[in-house]
This record gives sequence, C-alpha cells and structure tokens, in this order.
Amino acid sequence: MIGQRKIEFKSNAQLRTMAEAGVLLSAALDAAVAAAAPGVTTDDIDAAFAAVVDEAGAQYNFLGYHGYPKHICASVNDEVVHGIPGPRKLAEGDIISIDGGCVVRGWHADSARTVIVGEGDPEDVRLSEVTRQAMWRGIAAFARATHIGDIGDAIDDYVSAQDGAPLGILEDYVGHGIGSQMHMAPDVLNYRTGHRGAKIKPGMALAIEPMLVRGSIDTKVLDDEWTVVTTDGSRASQWEHSVARHAGGIWVLTAPDGGASELEPLGVTPVPIPA
Ligand code: MF3
Ligand code: CO
Repeated sequence: MIGQRKIEFKSNAQLRTMAEAGVLLSAALDAAVAAAAPGVTTDDIDAAFAAVVDEAGAQYNFLGYHGYPKHICASVNDEVVHGIPGPRKLAEGDIISIDGGCVVRGWHADSARTVIVGEGDPEDVRLSEVTRQAMWRGIAAFARATHIGDIGDAIDDYVSAQDGAPLGILEDYVGHGIGSQMHMAPDVLNYRTGHRGAKIKPGMALAIEPMLVRGSIDTKVLDDEWTVVTTDGSRASQWEHSVARHAGGIWVLTAPDGGASELEPLGVTPVPIPA
C-alpha cells in the first residue's frame, strides 16, 4: 500500500516527460516480449529489456526498489506478480507476465504485458485476453469517470460479464498513482467496493494494472520475499499501462499511439498532451 495520501498533479510538460519514459518502456517491453521463447531464461528477458533502456541512457525504477535486484518482474504460471528473473528456463505453454519500468529526467513509467510461450492452453489464452481487455475497460473509464472507484467498477463489471469459467480479480495487489515516484497515491483498485474514491482531475497519472487468476484470489509471498504466488497454484495474468488525464482528455503514456487503437473501439479517442 501507498504511504503518502496526497495526489501529485502534473503539468503538461511533466506529463510529456512521462510520455517519453512511457514510449521507451514500450520499446523495452517489445524487446522483452520478443525474447520470450522455450529454453530462454527469465534472466535473458531481463537482459533484453535492460539493453533497450541502457541504450537510451534512462534509469530504472524496479532495480534497487526496497532492494529489488532486477530490472523487470517476470512472473511465470502460478506467480502473479513480483517474480524475480533468474535461471529458470521458459517452456512451451508457460504464461509469463513481464512487468517493467523506467525513469526519464526523474519521471516514472510502469507497464506490464502477459505472454504465452508457444502454443498455450486455450484457458490461459482466455485469461490473458480477458485481463488485457479488463485493463482497457479500466483505462476507458479513466477517460469518462468522475472518481477513481469508477475504474475498478468498470474492470469488475467487464470480468463478471464473461461467459465460461469464472476468473478472480486479485485484491491483495492494486494499481497506483505514478509520477515523480513509481508508487504514489491514490491506490487504484481493480474491483467494485461501493466507495467512489478520490475525484479525478486533470494532471493525474495512474498505473492501471488488473491481475486476474483462474482460481482463488488467495496469494502468498515466497521465501525470496518478493514472488507472489496463488495459494491454490492457479495461473495468473497481469496487464498494466501508465495513463495520464489532462485538461483535454486521456493519453496512455506507455503506448506509442496513446492507446488509440484499443480505445477507439470503446468510444474513447485519446488526446495528445498539449505542448
Ligand atoms: N509494477 C510493479 C508494481 O506496481 C512494480 C514492482 S517494483 C519491484 O507493483 F521492485 F517489485 F520490482
Ligand atoms: Co505498477
């Protein structure tokens, strides 16, 4: 949970710097996703990510965060979040969430994608796709909503409306404000609570990051003190974007097109942050 309560409101110039970090992060995640294949280690994926960020001369926010030892989190199968890259080799059918961040001139970006290695179980493919779509529903809600709680309502409503085996929305880990630090107020819950939460205003930036599981939402932290796994061993997916709201609308900071291709079908047109 986030200690400080005051929400940081960003100027358009600050949001544009966050967008620079976001576009770089998107490229680094492209490289990480491209590297994921059978026989590749999660350390290899970490290295593919770091090569892009290093080349740009940007900084890391995961590395050293409360002592965190790597540049990304790589959470495989029953690992939900905060999996530490290492010598583990990926196998056909693994589902891996790759979560990364970077910092440009003091402004942070944070984004995650789920990848299925080779041919996946159709239920894992569905898990990832519902999680990804739930994220976009939450982002679309941020464009229209008046309160932070509306984002969780939109995510929850979308997930609950799915046919087929029910998917659980994690409650132990949530999204967050982002800006001059990676984790800032407010918390961004991914489920309906009945509380409206803080009022949405221009200058806000949020990391919207639903985490869904195929079984129980109970989690525990492994002895490495980071890796979060489901207690029942069920598989998980995480998708995340950092998103800004400014006077003219929203802009997805960690997508090169500001989210246009995914948001337009949902009736939302992202608006570039004005100069
Ligand atoms: N994106 C992750 C989150 O919001 C950040 C992980 S920080 C790390 O929870 F130190 F765990 F890598
Ligand atoms: Co995050």
